[in-house]
Amino acid sequence: MTAVTSTVTTDAYEGASPEAAFEAAVAADERIEPRDWMPDAYRTTLIRQMAQHAHSEIIGMQPEANWITRAPSLRRKAILMAKVQDEAGHGLYLYSAAETLGTGRDELLDKLHAGRQRYSSIFNYPTLTWADVGAIGWLVDGAAITNQVPLCRCSYGPYARAMVRICKEESFHQRQGYELLLTLSRGTAAQREMAQDAVNRWWWPSLMMFGPPDDASAHSAQSMAWKIKRHSNDELRQRFVDICVPQAETLGLTLPDPDLAWNEERGHYDFGAIDWTEFQEVLKGNGPCNEQRITQRRRAHEEGAWVREAAAAYAAKHSAQHTQHAQTDGKATA
Ligand SMILES: [Fe+2]
Ligand SMILES: [Fe+2]
Repeated sequence: MTAVTSTVTTDAYEGASPEAAFEAAVAADERIEPRDWMPDAYRTTLIRQMAQHAHSEIIGMQPEANWITRAPSLRRKAILMAKVQDEAGHGLYLYSAAETLGTGRDELLDKLHAGRQRYSSIFNYPTLTWADVGAIGWLVDGAAITNQVPLCRCSYGPYARAMVRICKEESFHQRQGYELLLTLSRGTAAQREMAQDAVNRWWWPSLMMFGPPDDASAHSAQSMAWKIKRHSNDELRQRFVDICVPQAETLGLTLPDPDLAWNEERGHYDFGAIDWTEFQEVLKGNGPCNEQRITQRRRAHEEGAWVREAAAAYAAKHSAQHTQHAQTDGKATA
């Protein structure tokens, strides 16, 4: 993965005004680093996007963790556990990256728990059968990769670097889902049917993961100008559809869209209209699992309080010891 080409900071533009240095660095495809001057709106946009991204990673653990105890074999269980743990890790990288902008992790989690920051609407759908684990890997992680690979070139350095590692892991997630569905689709009639049913339910919500159409997307144009985003929502959605159609053929499964057809002229697949009312309803909190996800998240946070307290106490003890050693060393050399 080619991602972080240069980390020349705006120091290189010494003498220029901070605004001009920022603009020049963005125009030259250089990375903006935490200590560089940046417009307030750039900072706010990044915090919002990175927080939403981090929240999605940790909330996204829930639908799949639901199947860990019922995985059909030791191999499948080990794969699924690794995948769910990866998502926790992604959350940690992203909260850490967001902290470089001066927002504490506690503050971000409080906002999530209070419903003041969002996570991806896709995680408000239930995982009804084992095949959903496959459909999520193939479609949801697949859509995430399509969205996230360009973020490896995001103008903000810490975000771009976090994405490099995340994307490597996401590609494993996509493959394990694809392989799971392939196994089911080559299995018994009941297994095939289960795989098809999962794809039927996850296809449209996956297309919604790219966000509203370009003409209705509030933040897109500015984010593209700042090189936080590199491609529009519709462009990425089209890319995803074009990738999935041949993969579905290999799987021997059908995508639930009668309008799906190759368009010779455009060189892309045409696809049917997305139900944006459903998307808006889920965003508003009326999806099948919104309530359950946030309740579970708050509970997990409360149950983890003792771990955070212990970690803080441990860190305080070590920093006290460190200070003491430093003082003792100081005396010895005095
Ligand atoms: Fe992830
Ligand atoms: Fe993933």
